Amino acid sequence: MARYGFIGCGNMGGAIARALCQKAEPGEVLLCNRTPQKAEALAKELGCRAGDNERAAKACTYLFLAVKPHMMEGMLQPLRPILAARQDRFVLVSMAAGISMARLREMAGGDYPVVRIMPNTAALVGESMTLLCCAGVERGEIDSLLEALSASGRFDEVEEGLLDAGGCVSGCGPAFAYVYLEALADGAVACGVPRPKARQYAAQALLGAAKMALESGEHTAALKDGVCSPGGSTIEGVQALEEGGLRAAAMRAVRAAYDKTLLLGRK
Ligand SMILES: NC(=O)c1ccc[n+]([C@@H]2O[C@H](COP(=O)([O-])OP(=O)(O)OC[C@H]3O[C@@H](n4cnc5c(N)ncnc54)[C@H](OP(=O)(O)O)[C@@H]3O)[C@@H](O)[C@H]2O)c1
Repeated sequence: MARYGFIGCGNMGGAIARALCQKAEPGEVLLCNRTPQKAEALAKELGCRAGDNERAAKACTYLFLAVKPHMMEGMLQPLRPILAARQDRFVLVSMAAGISMARLREMAGGDYPVVRIMPNTAALVGESMTLLCCAGVERGEIDSLLEALSASGRFDEVEEGLLDAGGCVSGCGPAFAYVYLEALADGAVACGVPRPKARQYAAQALLGAAKMALESGEHTAALKDGVCSPGGSTIEGVQALEEGGLRAAAMRAVRAAYDKTLLLGRK
């Protein structure tokens, strides 16, 4: 019997399914997708099974809901009687931005145990920062879920009120970082560095800086000061970033994502 079911095997559902299959028995994982070929191809690659939403809703203990927020209601509607008929215990695991646990229960048609996770696609390389909150779920069920997902990266359990706001930096953050990374690489190319090297240097610089920020215990301002020699080149670059409004743009990016997330929840 499938223990873990995925409804939606796109960018995020697929990344979480890949991480899960590193810890769980692939035979316990059932993948479902609107375009079935996508689930079938991933199932073949990971050694798990592909099926349809009804089968997952009938049988899986942890049912991952990985469709776009505006598709959640339409996807759950036909599954309501199936979920209502279940006699065993199961947990809905939603990764949809903006949809509260209360709203999700309404859409699913019952006060089922529910977990919201807000991961990011770096789960593919074991570096997601995943925020989560839950309702009606036993501690043992959460621990077992976290263990199964442990190959995806770090976790932080938060109050639901923080999930969407935090998710706008942890979930959306990789896209913001890619834009910055690409711009840094473009700058290096403009200075004559070949493109593949420019990309590698920029990516490793961001990776190293992120590791320092996470592991050194130092404030990022102090870390930045440590790179800027008096009268040196780095501080010239920092001034260019400030003149270009990088800080304000980064803050606006997170706030714009949050505003949009709140709208998604209202639909
Ligand atoms: N992408 C991220 O970085 C990220 C981060 C955090 C949270 N999330 C959340 O993750 C969820 C999925 O986002 P995504 O980026 O993975 O989107 P996506 O790449 O578009 O994947 C969504 C998948 O759901 C499938 N689908 C749609 N309706 C379905 C249905 N009724 N039954 C079964 N499968 C169905 C789609 O199938 P088709 O192949 O037919 O289109 C598609 O493969 C969203 O709720 C989003 O808020 C995403």
